[in-house]
Amino acid sequence: MTTTHEGYVFDNRNLHAAEQHHCLAAAYDPITLARLESTGVGPGWQCLEVGAGGGSVARWLADRGASVLATDIEPEHVPPAAGLTVLRHDVVRDPLPEAEFDLVHARLVLLHLPEREQVLRKLIRSLKPGGLLQLDEFDLDYGPVLLAARPAHAAAYEEFLAAKERMFDEAGADRRWGRRAAASMVAAGLVEVDPVPVVRRWDADSPGLRLLVHHTRHLRDRLVAAGLTDAGLQTARDAMAHPAFRATSCVFYTVQGRRPA
Ligand SMILES: C[S@@+](CC[C@H](N)C(=O)[O-])C[C@H]1O[C@@H](n2cnc3c(N)ncnc32)[C@H](O)[C@@H]1O
Repeated sequence: MTTTHEGYVFDNRNLHAAEQHHCLAAAYDPITLARLESTGVGPGWQCLEVGAGGGSVARWLADRGASVLATDIEPEHVPPAAGLTVLRHDVVRDPLPEAEFDLVHARLVLLHLPEREQVLRKLIRSLKPGGLLQLDEFDLDYGPVLLAARPAHAAAYEEFLAAKERMFDEAGADRRWGRRAAASMVAAGLVEVDPVPVVRRWDADSPGLRLLVHHTRHLRDRLVAAGLTDAGLQTARDAMAHPAFRATSCVFYTVQGRRPA
């Protein structure tokens, strides 16, 4: 596996990428879209979807009649749709128009970027006065095993999560960014900042756990470099597939704030 952008550990050209975007949409679109719906977004709105991934959120915004710019460093997975413009764009290095958008959304992007505070300010400048920013981000520091069929299953799951955390740390990701995002948004000048934490019960059928199983494959080379073995990864997969397995999800924070009018 190769990575082409410092700070971002996944790769949309990886053969597992479509599955990653499918799992992300299944696990998190219900939360993200409910929060976006509360803004009243619809016809006449100019929206920016940053790090659009598989494009499910951008597509939903366009289906509501908004005009949507979907950006990504690797935008190949964003399908075309009426009202949707797709742009290859690096949110760290490339400019964004100023005071252009009524709504800017990014999910699980700034977490990965060492330059996240600078990017946050760039996103805020791209909002019209009175416009809304929604950041949806993880806090990966919480996520205990609740039930496992065997002690080895619980241990393999925990070792997998710990290796992933080390890997994220080494890449410059902030695995606690979800809990910090609201305070950063206030410090950057947004008002009406409103963070909502969400946790779920995970079992073998949960899309969130399917996303983790996916990570054992997509990130295999990096996880092995971070100290795991293929046997350990397989035990973690067996644990997550077992009908008795239960864990609490990591915390998913959806945070909205408004640029002062
Ligand atoms: C974890 S995925 C999340 C995808 C999508 N936002 C979602 O939640 O379903 C992160 C996305 O951000 C993109 N990305 C990473 N670094 C980026 C950058 N510097 N500029 C723009 N997009 C970036 C990746 O290519 C990937 O599609």
